[in-house]
Amino acid sequence: MSRESIVSGEPLGPEETAEETTLASLRPRTLAEYVGQESAVQKLAIAIKAALGRGEPLDHVLFHGPPGLGKTTLAHIVSNEMGAGLVCTSGPALERAADLVGILTNLQRGDVLFIDEIHRLPRVVEEYLYPAMEDFQIDIILDPGPHARTVRLELSEFTVVGATTRAGLITGPLRNRFGLSMHMSFYSTSELAEIIRRSSRILRLDITEGGAETIALRSRGTPRICNRLLKRVRDFAQVEGAGAVTESLAVEAMDIHGVDEAGLDGLDRKYLSVIITQYSGGPVGVAALAATLNEEQDTLIDVVEPFLLISGFLNRTSRGRVATEKACRHLGLHHAGQGKLSL
Ligand SMILES: Nc1ncnc2c1ncn2[C@@H]1O[C@H](COP(=O)(O)OP(=O)(O)OP(=O)(O)O)[C@@H](O)[C@H]1O
Ligand SMILES: [Mg+2]
Repeated sequence: MSRESIVSGEPLGPEETAEETTLASLRPRTLAEYVGQESAVQKLAIAIKAALGRGEPLDHVLFHGPPGLGKTTLAHIVSNEMGAGLVCTSGPALERAADLVGILTNLQRGDVLFIDEIHRLPRVVEEYLYPAMEDFQIDIILDPGPHARTVRLELSEFTVVGATTRAGLITGPLRNRFGLSMHMSFYSTSELAEIIRRSSRILRLDITEGGAETIALRSRGTPRICNRLLKRVRDFAQVEGAGAVTESLAVEAMDIHGVDEAGLDGLDRKYLSVIITQYSGGPVGVAALAATLNEEQDTLIDVVEPFLLISGFLNRTSRGRVATEKACRHLGLHHAGQGKLSL
């Protein structure tokens, strides 16, 4: 489902994921360092302070929203602020109930169990998680068959932090077991510029206000993308022997990667131009678009569309996708219907 694109919110493979988790990374480690997502940060700060005050583990927390907005970062911050241990796993990694039981029985009181892509948890495993989250106990069936016995295991109280890019795919019972549920929204240009300035300080890179703003505008509201673009701009600045990253230098560097001033890359532009030129601007079903573009439908839904929708290039109707006026203007295209009107 990943897309090899510099403006994809997904990590570009294991190296980037590894890079993000190293100590010298750009990942903020405390709520105070975390930029943006004010409502989530405020709710978390209160819940953490209250739990610490009572000497209790934090309630279970669910983060949902598009890739690269800081869900994993917040999970690390939660364990850090709680002074608790962190165990990381993911929905697809927990194939069998035994995998989960092994992890649960090793948790210490207060530990944070981070389950990434929690919507991909197999149903059998999920059912073990319910009593674990609710009552901190699990029933294990020994010797299945006619002599089956169940043994109840008491667990230490712990906190599940779940993350998902697809809140809609989480079952009701699982969702209900999270005391805190937070939607991550895209970042504003000024928040991204702040992240870029912070990252530049860590990378010891000199950047002007204009340089930071230019990169922020093209980062699709996503911190992972702004950090990635910043690194490519840093390479360019170094190779060009430029002292500071200025606006014009940033523009030149990002043009090389095909990222335009709205943050769209080649696939975004192709996606929109197919709707406009081949489907008269829409509505067109995503399955037809995926076939025409020779792309996975999931890639279009998870990676391409969210930003096009939020930035007004695309509308989603019950009959399919529609390219907006703004998309036509941005690409300098017009569709058959428009052509007739304007003539
Ligand atoms: N609020 C923030 N302030 C500063 N940097 C941030 C912030 N949020 C995210 N980042 C940066 O963006 C990168 C990606 O964030 P993170 O891995 O937390 O995203 P994610 O939501 O878990 O993505 P995915 O859905 O792909 O797992 C991090 O390495 C971090 O450096
Ligand atoms: Mg993550």
